[in-house]
Amino acid sequence: MHMPNLNEARKRTEEKVLEKKVEYNFSKAFLNKKYFLRTYGCQMNMHDSEEIRKYLELLGFRETNVLEESDLVVLNTCAIRENAHEKVFGYLGRCKHLKREKPELIIAIGGCMSQEENVVHEIKMKHPYVDIVFGTHNISDLPKLLLEKKEAQTKMQEIEVYSIEGDVYENIKYSRDSKITAWVNIMYGCDKFCTYCIVPYTRGKQRSRKLENILKEVEDLKINGYKEITLLGQNVNAYGKDLNEGYDFKDLLERVAQTGIERIRFVTSHPWDFTEEMIDVIAKYENIMPYIHLPLQSGSDRILKLMGRRYTKEEYIKLFRSIEEKIPNVSITTDIIVGFPNETEEDFLETLDVVNTCQFDSAFTFIYSPREGTPASKIKDNVTIEEKEKRLQRLNDLVNHYSLEKNKRLEGSIVPVLILGENEKDKNKVYGYTDTMKLINITGGHNFIGQIVPIKVTTAKSFSLDGEIVR
Ligand code: 5AD
Ligand code: SF4
Repeated sequence: MHMPNLNEARKRTEEKVLEKKVEYNFSKAFLNKKYFLRTYGCQMNMHDSEEIRKYLELLGFRETNVLEESDLVVLNTCAIRENAHEKVFGYLGRCKHLKREKPELIIAIGGCMSQEENVVHEIKMKHPYVDIVFGTHNISDLPKLLLEKKEAQTKMQEIEVYSIEGDVYENIKYSRDSKITAWVNIMYGCDKFCTYCIVPYTRGKQRSRKLENILKEVEDLKINGYKEITLLGQNVNAYGKDLNEGYDFKDLLERVAQTGIERIRFVTSHPWDFTEEMIDVIAKYENIMPYIHLPLQSGSDRILKLMGRRYTKEEYIKLFRSIEEKIPNVSITTDIIVGFPNETEEDFLETLDVVNTCQFDSAFTFIYSPREGTPASKIKDNVTIEEKEKRLQRLNDLVNHYSLEKNKRLEGSIVPVLILGENEKDKNKVYGYTDTMKLINITGGHNFIGQIVPIKVTTAKSFSLDGEIVR
């Protein structure tokens, strides 16, 4: 048994990151058994689930989307805010119930919650029916843990979570959700330690993959017909800084663009590591999409400082303007936290001021949620939850106003759309994304799934567009 440990997770040493090759020498011991996989949280987690899915398929499992039919439940969890926790523990209640009727059901928990000391302690004490806990550093141990469980036939809980700074795995196989778009990890972990954030603890230190390995993956995806890739990292602009190989994110972007894959996206950007040279590369290549997710978090210099974000309101706006000037038709979205401990009305008004200045295409907005072990969670807070909720509402009203206004500007214009599939609610429609990452529903167009086609925007709403094929 290996339990997670917060003090270990906080450490950053000069220790060399190892590149490890994942081995696939296990048997189809679970032939005809069914698994149910539920994923919470960000794109990184969704991509990890594609890795998990591959291991399960290679073990002989088939996927089901009916919990009651499953022989194995895997919850890939998120720890970013408290409500993510609540959802997982709520769902665990259902699994517990099912296990009463079906004692042979295996329940496994992975993802960021598994990396939290207090959560794993709670699972150990209060949820003994959970069979396996695995962490974000050892996803590839899942087959081993399942096989051990099968062989031992015991009720013993297997907890295998490492609070190491982390390695880089290569040779990972994925069972990808889509045949059109794909995620590509370019780095793992984060060294920024923003004071509210749990990610540097759950995901370990920043480890970049080697440029040649990333390029090889992109080239393979291209050969296999993928149209769009999204480069993934907690802080993509810091790519390469840990490698000392003489290349950085702008070089990576340029080399990926030169593979000729049709669409390239990347998330998430951190303003502190975003250079003018990076903006120039994004502007230079047609296949790098004019879309940037640039978290602001707060517009108040005082709060930004307390958050450890390393930029001021003015510096953020300067970067924003430069991106807007250099990249034609760029769309920029953001993340904003309201109610950081002791945020005043004046601090909050500074945030609204940035929203008014930048007029984001859209924004993800959150009420600050204290995460155990982070520095911000130790600050005594004098703002009531009612006040935080009011601020969130005021912020959302403003954000939605600009989203609609930005989308309305597209009405009547023709935009390039990668069509991804049929609209689930309306079979007469298909859906896709514009180059600027706006969701668009299109009447007809079933023949164009998997292609990039010009679409006329007919109606704009706050969160999506409607469009039609241009004839
Ligand atoms: N409370 C609220 N929101 C948070 N985020 C990260 N940590 C917290 C927290 N403790 C938000 C940030 C980040 C996004 C992924 O989640 O805005 O950019
Ligand atoms: Fe968290 Fe900050 Fe790292 Fe983003 S950059 S993952 S907010 S610590």
